[in-house]
Order: sequence, then C-alpha cells, then structure tokens
Amino acid sequence: MDWITGPAELRRRLASERSAGRAIGLVPTMGYLHRGHAALMRALRPKVGCLVLSIFVNPTQFALGEDLATYPRNLEADRQLAESEGVDVVFSPTAEGMYPVPSSTFVMVEGLSSVLEGASRPTHFRGVTTVVTKLLHVVQPDLVVFGQKDAQQVVLVRRMLQELLFDTRMVVIPTVRDHDGLALSSRNAYLSSEERTAALVLVQSLAEATKVVQAGERDARAVAELMGIIIAGEPLAMLDYAVAVHASTLAPVQTIDGKVLLAVAARFGRARLLDNACLMVDGPSVSTVLP
Ligand code: PAJ
Repeated sequence: MDWITGPAELRRRLASERSAGRAIGLVPTMGYLHRGHAALMRALRPKVGCLVLSIFVNPTQFALGEDLATYPRNLEADRQLAESEGVDVVFSPTAEGMYPVPSSTFVMVEGLSSVLEGASRPTHFRGVTTVVTKLLHVVQPDLVVFGQKDAQQVVLVRRMLQELLFDTRMVVIPTVRDHDGLALSSRNAYLSSEERTAALVLVQSLAEATKVVQAGERDARAVAELMGIIIAGEPLAMLDYAVAVHASTLAPVQTIDGKVLLAVAARFGRARLLDNACLMVDGPSVSTVLP
C-alpha cells in the first residue's frame, strides 16, 4: 500500500494505473476510521483495480468555533485498517497541498446546501463540495463511494456530479451501526457513556417513525413531530431538527409518499450527531431504501 501526500505524486501514480487499464475507486474520508468507513472500502474493492482512500480533515467544511482543531485523528490506526481492507493508495494531503493559495474558488450546490445541516452550518457544504471536487479532479475515479449516514451529503454530491458532468459514478452504502443501533461516527468519540446511551434516541425516533408509517400514517407533520417529541424527551439531547423531506429536493413534504427522507440531528454534550432513514412509500407498501 502506498502512502502519498502530494497531489502531483498522486496524479503520477494513478496515470500508470489508468494506462494499465485498471478502474480507479475513491473513498473520501476525514480519517479516524471505523467500521462504517471499512464498509465503504469493501463496497468498492471488488469493483476496481486500484482503490484509493483519501484522509483529509478538510478545514473549509468547518466553521469558526467548530471542532476542526480537536477533530479526532489517528493516522497509524487508519493505515492499519486501510491495509487490512486492501487499499492500494492512501492519499493524505496537507492543508497547504489541497489549498495552495488562499481560496477564492468554491463549488456550491445552491439551495440543497442551505437546508437541514446547512441551516445550522451555512458554509459546511460549500467546503464539502469544494473538497470533493478537488479530490475527484486529482483522482479522476471511475467510482466514488459515500455513506447513507450523511444523506444530505449524498444528495448534494449526486447533484453536483450530474450538473458538473463528472465522469464518475457514485455508490452509496447503508449506515453501519453499533451493536445497539447507534450510527457509527468519528464524532462518537466525544460522547461520555451517559451521552452515548442518550444518543440512541436518534435511531429510536427513526424506528418509531418508520413503524407508524408502516402502520399507515401518511401525515408528514405528525411523523416529524413524533420524532421531535421522542428526541426532546431525552434530557441529554438538544434537538436541532427532526424532519420528513423529499429525498432528492430535501423540501418538506406534507404527505409521506414516494421517496421520503426522515432526518434527525441533535447535540449530546460536545457532539452534534445525525441519523436518517429513507423510505419508499407506494400506496400501502413501505420499504427502507438508500437515499
Ligand atoms: P467522514 O465523516 O470521515 O465520512 C467519510 C465517509 O464515510 C462519508 O461518505 C460518510 O457518509 C461515511 N460514513 C461515516 N459514518 C458512516 C456509517 N456509520 N455508515 C456508513 N457510512 C459512514 O463525510 C466526510 O468525512 C467528509 O464530508 C468528506 C466527504 C470526506 C469530505 O471532506
């Protein structure tokens, strides 16, 4: 496994893969890897000849006062996990490597980037879509993979790939959870054991909401309120949002019908955590699908 820190070196390395006719897959991450990230690597490994993992804590997606400086890092553990998942190339650039001069060029998906997570974090998605564009530009992968855990990120990046005519196909994998249902996240490292138990309220709210939809509830406001009440009932949770939105426009829906994203976010101590469920509703039939 190669460990590459410079964009120019990565380009040279991948040019030889491309001329050998090998398909390239990219797994973008911010490191502190867990089983969710491993599942991303496993999803692409059999589909490509060269698997690239990027590890970069991207400063532009953190606002001032957010956790950029304290975001958990462990490159040695990341290296071992990448090795065991059969990664060919780790790309671990410096901030100067990715942002060689003060930025004046950004990629922004208007509208989709200002709702849900974007309402609380107005510059977050501009940073995400800008860095993902840079990574795609350098790697030029055939496939790129994202996790359902960050469903809004999936929706935005998919839209960006389409609008900017990227020649890269996107793969999405389901949220990987701990034994008790908590969605794995690098930020779970911030939780005390009481907060970790409290954070289960997120997945519980989604499970209850899914249950009432399966039982026939189609009033989106009732479903969203149910999730909000469940989360607000947990004393250690500071609810940010609990919504039912159209899965591709992220606009609030009145009726649960078609592809609907149930999305929740709350703060537990220092950790702001997200979770979601994506439902496909067709008459009486309700199934869970990927965003
Ligand atoms: P990061 O939070 O490290 O996540 C990297 C990828 O892992 C994302 O696609 C995310 O959705 C996925 N992921 C995280 N937890 C997961 C889980 N429990 N199950 C399945 N997938 C999971 O998302 C980012 O980094 C950044 O915004 C990035 C795209 C790298 C741009 O900087």
